[in-house]
Amino acid sequence: MAEIVITIDGPAGVGKTTVAKILAKKLGFKYFDTGAMYRALALAAQEKGITAEQTALLQKLAGELPLTFNQKENTFKVFLNDRDISELIRHPQIGMLASTISQIKEVREVFWEKQRKLAKEAQRAIFEGRDMGSIVFPDAPVKFFLTASSEIRAKRRLKQLKGLGKDVSYKEIYSSILQRDKQDSKRVIAPMQPAQDAIIIDTSNLGIENVINLMYKHISNKL
Ligand code: C5P
Repeated sequence: MAEIVITIDGPAGVGKTTVAKILAKKLGFKYFDTGAMYRALALAAQEKGITAEQTALLQKLAGELPLTFNQKENTFKVFLNDRDISELIRHPQIGMLASTISQIKEVREVFWEKQRKLAKEAQRAIFEGRDMGSIVFPDAPVKFFLTASSEIRAKRRLKQLKGLGKDVSYKEIYSSILQRDKQDSKRVIAPMQPAQDAIIIDTSNLGIENVINLMYKHISNKL
Protein backbone atom coordinates (compact mmCIF):
# COMPACT_ATOMS: atom_id res chain seq x y z
CA MET A 1 0.00 0.00 0.00
CA ALA A 2 1.45 3.38 -1.00
CA GLU A 3 1.73 5.80 1.88
CA ILE A 4 -0.38 8.94 1.95
CA VAL A 5 0.98 12.02 3.67
CA ILE A 6 -0.83 15.32 4.07
CA THR A 7 1.46 18.22 4.96
CA ILE A 8 0.62 21.33 6.95
CA ASP A 9 3.28 24.02 7.17
CA GLY A 10 3.26 27.56 8.47
CA PRO A 11 4.64 29.90 11.13
CA ALA A 12 4.35 29.63 14.91
CA GLY A 13 0.92 30.04 16.44
CA VAL A 14 -0.99 29.78 13.18
CA GLY A 15 -3.13 26.88 14.40
CA LYS A 16 -1.39 24.01 12.58
CA THR A 17 -1.51 21.68 15.59
CA THR A 18 -5.16 22.31 16.35
CA VAL A 19 -6.35 21.66 12.81
CA ALA A 20 -3.91 18.81 12.16
CA LYS A 21 -5.19 16.89 15.19
CA ILE A 22 -8.84 17.35 14.24
CA LEU A 23 -8.24 16.42 10.61
CA ALA A 24 -6.20 13.36 11.58
CA LYS A 25 -9.04 12.12 13.75
CA LYS A 26 -11.62 12.81 11.06
CA LEU A 27 -9.58 10.97 8.42
CA GLY A 28 -8.27 8.16 10.63
CA PHE A 29 -4.69 9.30 9.93
CA LYS A 30 -1.77 9.46 12.36
CA TYR A 31 -0.52 12.90 13.27
CA PHE A 32 3.06 14.11 13.71
CA ASP A 33 4.19 17.45 15.09
CA THR A 34 7.73 17.82 13.74
CA GLY A 35 8.32 21.02 15.71
CA ALA A 36 8.20 18.78 18.80
CA MET A 37 11.29 16.97 17.50
CA TYR A 38 13.31 20.21 17.31
CA ARG A 39 11.93 21.29 20.68
CA ALA A 40 12.81 17.94 22.30
CA LEU A 41 16.34 18.22 20.92
CA ALA A 42 16.59 21.78 22.28
CA LEU A 43 15.48 20.60 25.72
CA ALA A 44 17.86 17.61 25.72
CA ALA A 45 20.75 19.84 24.61
CA GLN A 46 19.98 22.41 27.28
CA GLU A 47 19.89 19.74 29.97
CA LYS A 48 23.23 18.31 28.81
CA GLY A 49 24.85 21.74 28.58
CA ILE A 50 25.34 21.45 24.80
CA THR A 51 25.23 24.81 23.03
CA ALA A 52 23.92 25.68 19.55
CA GLU A 53 27.52 26.06 18.33
CA GLN A 54 28.40 22.44 19.10
CA THR A 55 27.14 21.11 15.79
CA ALA A 56 28.73 17.66 15.93
CA LEU A 57 27.39 17.00 19.43
CA LEU A 58 23.93 18.17 18.38
CA GLN A 59 23.96 15.94 15.32
CA LYS A 60 24.92 12.97 17.51
CA LEU A 61 22.27 13.87 20.08
CA ALA A 62 19.60 14.18 17.36
CA GLY A 63 20.49 10.72 16.05
CA GLU A 64 20.38 9.11 19.48
CA LEU A 65 17.43 11.05 20.89
CA PRO A 66 15.22 8.53 22.74
CA LEU A 67 12.11 10.30 21.48
CA THR A 68 8.71 8.66 21.21
CA PHE A 69 5.27 9.97 20.37
CA ASN A 70 2.13 8.70 21.94
CA GLN A 71 -1.13 9.41 20.17
CA LYS A 72 -4.41 8.63 21.78
CA GLU A 73 -7.73 10.21 20.99
CA ASN A 74 -6.98 13.89 20.58
CA THR A 75 -3.73 14.00 22.50
CA PHE A 76 -0.18 13.96 21.25
CA LYS A 77 2.37 13.23 23.96
CA VAL A 78 6.11 13.51 23.58
CA PHE A 79 8.40 11.31 25.65
CA LEU A 80 12.14 11.48 26.15
CA ASN A 81 12.98 8.02 27.46
CA ASP A 82 10.05 7.49 29.84
CA ARG A 83 9.69 11.17 30.75
CA ASP A 84 6.64 13.03 29.47
CA ILE A 85 8.09 16.31 28.11
CA SER A 86 4.95 17.40 26.21
CA GLU A 87 4.45 20.52 28.32
CA LEU A 88 8.07 21.27 29.15
CA ILE A 89 8.94 21.75 25.47
CA ARG A 90 6.20 24.38 25.00
CA HIS A 91 8.10 27.09 26.84
CA PRO A 92 8.96 30.07 24.55
CA GLN A 93 12.66 29.76 25.47
CA ILE A 94 12.73 26.18 24.22
CA GLY A 95 10.95 27.34 21.06
CA MET A 96 13.66 29.92 20.45
CA LEU A 97 16.46 27.42 21.03
CA ALA A 98 14.68 24.93 18.74
CA SER A 99 14.56 27.60 16.04
CA THR A 100 18.31 28.25 16.41
CA ILE A 101 19.23 24.56 16.42
CA SER A 102 16.99 23.88 13.44
CA GLN A 103 19.33 25.96 11.27
CA ILE A 104 21.97 23.24 11.47
CA LYS A 105 22.00 21.19 8.28
CA GLU A 106 23.31 18.02 9.95
CA VAL A 107 20.50 18.12 12.52
CA ARG A 108 17.86 18.61 9.84
CA GLU A 109 19.20 15.71 7.82
CA VAL A 110 18.88 13.39 10.82
CA PHE A 111 15.30 14.53 11.43
CA TRP A 112 14.31 14.38 7.74
CA GLU A 113 15.27 10.72 7.71
CA LYS A 114 13.34 10.07 10.93
CA GLN A 115 10.27 11.87 9.57
CA ARG A 116 10.24 9.82 6.36
CA LYS A 117 10.62 6.65 8.41
CA LEU A 118 7.68 7.64 10.62
CA ALA A 119 5.56 8.21 7.50
CA LYS A 120 6.45 4.78 6.13
CA GLU A 121 5.46 3.15 9.41
CA ALA A 122 2.24 5.15 9.73
CA GLN A 123 1.19 4.76 6.05
CA ARG A 124 -1.52 7.41 6.50
CA ALA A 125 -0.31 10.53 8.25
CA ILE A 126 -0.54 14.27 8.66
CA PHE A 127 2.81 15.96 9.20
CA GLU A 128 2.98 19.53 10.42
CA GLY A 129 6.04 21.77 10.50
CA ARG A 130 7.91 24.28 8.37
CA ASP A 131 9.36 22.23 5.51
CA MET A 132 7.06 19.23 5.25
CA GLY A 133 5.61 20.08 1.85
CA SER A 134 8.66 21.84 0.43
CA ILE A 135 11.42 19.38 1.39
CA VAL A 136 10.47 16.29 3.35
CA PHE A 137 7.42 15.08 1.43
CA PRO A 138 7.63 16.74 -2.01
CA ASP A 139 5.24 14.14 -3.47
CA ALA A 140 2.51 14.57 -0.85
CA PRO A 141 -0.85 14.68 -2.65
CA VAL A 142 -2.22 17.51 -0.48
CA LYS A 143 -0.10 20.30 0.96
CA PHE A 144 -1.30 23.20 3.04
CA PHE A 145 0.45 26.36 4.15
CA LEU A 146 -1.39 28.29 6.85
CA THR A 147 -0.79 31.96 7.55
CA ALA A 148 -2.18 34.60 9.94
CA SER A 149 -1.06 38.00 11.17
CA SER A 150 1.66 37.96 13.85
CA GLU A 151 -0.63 39.72 16.36
CA ILE A 152 -3.34 37.10 15.98
CA ARG A 153 -0.82 34.29 16.23
CA ALA A 154 0.66 35.76 19.42
CA LYS A 155 -2.83 36.03 20.94
CA ARG A 156 -3.63 32.41 20.06
CA ARG A 157 -0.32 31.18 21.48
CA LEU A 158 -0.85 33.22 24.66
CA LYS A 159 -4.25 31.61 25.18
CA GLN A 160 -2.80 28.15 24.60
CA LEU A 161 0.08 28.64 27.04
CA LYS A 162 -2.11 30.25 29.69
CA GLY A 163 -4.36 27.21 29.34
CA LEU A 164 -1.32 25.07 30.20
CA GLY A 165 -0.81 27.22 33.29
CA LYS A 166 2.35 28.89 31.94
CA ASP A 167 3.32 32.29 33.28
CA VAL A 168 3.96 34.16 30.03
CA SER A 169 3.16 37.65 28.77
CA TYR A 170 1.79 38.78 25.40
CA LYS A 171 4.89 40.91 24.87
CA GLU A 172 7.24 37.97 25.45
CA ILE A 173 5.28 35.73 23.07
CA TYR A 174 4.88 38.38 20.38
CA SER A 175 8.59 39.15 20.27
CA SER A 176 9.49 35.45 20.29
CA ILE A 177 7.10 34.85 17.37
CA LEU A 178 8.61 37.72 15.36
CA GLN A 179 12.13 36.55 16.05
CA ARG A 180 11.33 32.93 15.17
CA ASP A 181 9.49 33.98 11.98
CA LYS A 182 12.58 35.87 10.90
CA GLN A 183 14.99 33.11 11.83
CA ASP A 184 12.85 30.33 10.28
CA SER A 185 12.20 32.12 6.99
CA LYS A 186 15.70 33.53 6.49
CA ARG A 187 17.73 30.40 7.21
CA VAL A 188 19.77 28.90 4.39
CA ILE A 189 18.65 25.30 4.87
CA ALA A 190 14.96 24.54 4.36
CA PRO A 191 13.63 28.04 5.02
CA MET A 192 9.98 28.23 5.94
CA GLN A 193 8.12 28.75 2.69
CA PRO A 194 5.08 27.29 0.98
CA ALA A 195 5.74 24.44 -1.45
CA GLN A 196 5.01 25.52 -5.02
CA ASP A 197 1.88 23.36 -5.08
CA ALA A 198 0.71 24.21 -1.54
CA ILE A 199 -2.80 25.48 -0.83
CA ILE A 200 -2.34 28.70 1.13
CA ILE A 201 -4.98 29.55 3.72
CA ASP A 202 -5.01 32.79 5.71
CA THR A 203 -6.64 31.85 9.01
CA SER A 204 -6.58 35.39 10.50
CA ASN A 205 -10.32 35.86 10.21
CA LEU A 206 -11.46 32.25 10.09
CA GLY A 207 -12.69 30.14 12.98
CA ILE A 208 -11.30 26.63 13.42
CA GLU A 209 -14.48 25.04 12.03
CA ASN A 210 -14.18 27.08 8.84
CA VAL A 211 -10.51 26.23 8.40
CA ILE A 212 -11.21 22.52 8.93
CA ASN A 213 -14.11 22.53 6.46
CA LEU A 214 -12.02 24.27 3.86
CA MET A 215 -9.12 21.88 4.27
CA TYR A 216 -11.39 18.85 4.32
CA LYS A 217 -12.93 19.95 1.03
CA HIS A 218 -9.48 20.21 -0.58
CA ILE A 219 -8.50 16.80 0.80
CA SER A 220 -11.73 15.16 -0.44
CA ASN A 221 -11.10 16.59 -3.90
CA LYS A 222 -7.59 15.18 -4.06
CA LEU A 223 -7.75 11.80 -2.34
O1 C5P B 1 6.21 24.18 15.29
P1 C5P B 1 6.97 24.73 16.48
O2 C5P B 1 6.74 26.18 16.68
O3 C5P B 1 6.74 23.92 17.70
O4 C5P B 1 8.51 24.52 16.08
C1 C5P B 1 9.58 24.98 16.87
C2 C5P B 1 10.74 25.39 15.98
O5 C5P B 1 11.25 24.22 15.32
C3 C5P B 1 10.36 26.33 14.84
O6 C5P B 1 10.48 27.69 15.20
C4 C5P B 1 11.34 25.98 13.73
O7 C5P B 1 12.52 26.71 13.84
C5 C5P B 1 11.67 24.53 14.01
N1 C5P B 1 11.02 23.65 13.04
C6 C5P B 1 11.64 23.45 11.83
N2 C5P B 1 11.12 22.57 10.95
C7 C5P B 1 10.01 21.90 11.21
C8 C5P B 1 9.32 22.12 12.43
C9 C5P B 1 9.85 23.02 13.32
O8 C5P B 1 12.67 24.05 11.56
N3 C5P B 1 9.56 21.02 10.32
